Amino acid sequence: MIPLFKVAMSPKASSLVGEVLDSGYIGQGAKVDAFERALAERLDNPRVLTVNSATSGLHLALHLVATESGRDGEVLATALTCTATNWPILANGMRIRWVDTDPSTLNMDLDDLARKITPETRAIVLVHWGGYPVDLDRLRGVLDRAERLHGVRPRVVEDCADAWGATYKGVPLGGHGSIGVYSFQAVKHLTAGDGGLIVLPDDGLMDRARSLRWYGIDRDGGAARFKNDIPEYGFKFNMNDINAAIGLANLEIVDGIVARHRENAAFYDAELAGVDGLELTERATDREPSFWYYSVKVDRRDAFAQRLREAGIATSEVHHRNDAYTATRESRALLPGLDRVAERQIALPVGWWVTDEDRAHIVKTVKAGW
Ligand SMILES: Cc1ncc(COP(=O)(O)O)c(C=O)c1O
Repeated sequence: MIPLFKVAMSPKASSLVGEVLDSGYIGQGAKVDAFERALAERLDNPRVLTVNSATSGLHLALHLVATESGRDGEVLATALTCTATNWPILANGMRIRWVDTDPSTLNMDLDDLARKITPETRAIVLVHWGGYPVDLDRLRGVLDRAERLHGVRPRVVEDCADAWGATYKGVPLGGHGSIGVYSFQAVKHLTAGDGGLIVLPDDGLMDRARSLRWYGIDRDGGAARFKNDIPEYGFKFNMNDINAAIGLANLEIVDGIVARHRENAAFYDAELAGVDGLELTERATDREPSFWYYSVKVDRRDAFAQRLREAGIATSEVHHRNDAYTATRESRALLPGLDRVAERQIALPVGWWVTDEDRAHIVKTVKAGW
């Protein structure tokens, strides 16, 4: 079976991890510092902090927003994503108001977003679906307009979990004025075993996030740090040196990994265009996606998946619409764009493990019909 996801592990990871295990110190230490320095350099942004998962990073991001703007506030969010994008909104006592999905990108519909921003809006939480960047200039235009109309400029939290390596107008995601959160979970482009990264837009948020990821304590406070005052409670969201060592090793191979995802995606773009019953998603020239998976929209999705399974090819919808769950029943809304794609979108394997023969087999199978 050609898998949809696979762990990409550098051969150097075990020796780097071995070094940590034998060092007598496995908590947050020198390897975390080194990983953060390397990540800051890659993203060309000094305001980055590792955490133990993207879910923790998103929780921390929403905590920063909630404590700044008041709990109980309304957050505009996209329903087509991992539950990890949206559960932190609920966990922080805020209310979700769904924004529709743009059927051409599977990202948040920015026209619907513009309609739904009101003085009640505390934040916007969006995802770069499968690593396809949201149109961030248009988003900025929507925020500018909201500020003129309502006098509010809600904070934006970008879930970049699937988007390591993706850029918008040449700049990595997370560096466009929002709070960005990456994932280094097992099967992501860049894995640390588990882990995440929060990218902050200013020094004030950076300082708060740094202490809140570890109980609200200033770790640089020396031996007296436990006696020093803790201005606000925090969490245990920090990364440890074992995960950081894995991440550091994999940082050396990740560019090649992302490049192969893109190469395979370009092959599908060329070969699958115009196939009967199948629609590709948007490609814009101002952004470079990371293609964690390759999304298409198909008629008769179950039959499509079954046909590919018989040919030894794994597929999945990857994420199910979050508005379908009991946990979000209070937020139900009409989402016609999402209705158009929710039962049609499906992901094909596109990653570094997909060989030239594999991708030719996938294209041939799809073209033969289902
Ligand atoms: C879009 C999205 N957001 C968040 C997450 C959660 O990441 P983590 O497992 O690092 O918490 C995932 C994980 O797959 C994801 O795909």
